[in-house]
Amino acid sequence: MSNDNSRYVILGKDDAERRRLNDGYPYFKKYVRKNKVIYDDTVSLPDDAVVLDLATGSGAWILDLASLVPSTVIIHGIDISPAFFPYIQSPNNNNIHLHSQSCTSLPPTWSSQFDLINQNLVRGALTQHDWNLEFHELFRVLKPGGHLQLCEGDCTNWDQEIRPGSAHEKMRDLYKALLDKNSLVWDCSKRLPEMLTNIGFVNVYTELRKYPLNADDGDGGGSIGSDVISRFLRSLKPAIMKNEGFGIVGSGEVYEGLIEELKKEWNEGTLFFDFVLICAQKPL
Ligand SMILES: C[S@@+](CC[C@H](N)C(=O)[O-])C[C@H]1O[C@@H](n2cnc3c(N)ncnc32)[C@H](O)[C@@H]1O
Repeated sequence: MSNDNSRYVILGKDDAERRRLNDGYPYFKKYVRKNKVIYDDTVSLPDDAVVLDLATGSGAWILDLASLVPSTVIIHGIDISPAFFPYIQSPNNNNIHLHSQSCTSLPPTWSSQFDLINQNLVRGALTQHDWNLEFHELFRVLKPGGHLQLCEGDCTNWDQEIRPGSAHEKMRDLYKALLDKNSLVWDCSKRLPEMLTNIGFVNVYTELRKYPLNADDGDGGGSIGSDVISRFLRSLKPAIMKNEGFGIVGSGEVYEGLIEELKKEWNEGTLFFDFVLICAQKPL
């Protein structure tokens, strides 16, 4: 069932956003997920596995997985909005099924169906309450012994790492104000594992990942990173300006200037927020 009453208010739903998601996927795969589609090396999918990708967006992860597994593996992708769904070329991908559905409320018939569930980059949409609802649903729809993997941005360590007076400090204050205003979670690496453990998931494993952002580092990935992350920050501009720049930036132009300052700091070696990979398992 389609349900677009989303709090997905801080990012857009247009073609530019679809391109941003598709362009970002190979970078995040290479530098944050260390070229892995399935993060936990101990997970091996049987030929009749059933897999779910939550908030699938443009479907980059499911198309990548589909190219690696036999076509007997059934792959479901859900998103609250079908706006970014990929065009699936049947019959090559007739094992892929896409649904307009919120990750906080999954079909009752899906109980104990899935061997693996994946979710990437959804913290711009889920409040702590939503995460909790979602994790209860994921516990229900995983098979006993089934695996969950998440990849999210994480600002837990931001306070310790930022130089006072820097562009990073301003961007941190803006970004946190935006997340707080929308009741979104910024310390994913701390809160999400706690929630998973409280719900009964086991083998909860968390790994923080840095990624290249220095555009002057030759072919080390930094120029792509600088482009991917600055496009992400640019996509937040409407939401930031809707809140009058939270008293931190007075206009869209000043916000654009702040992103340029930030890029210079990246070139001087400053890092930005972390990404976190979280793996967990439903007990047997
Ligand atoms: C930043 S995109 C990430 C897309 C994809 N996972 C990726 O990594 O490219 C966030 C996606 O979450 C979807 N979304 C937002 N709220 C949702 C919800 N409650 N349930 C399912 N999908 C949701 C949005 O429509 C959007 O496609």
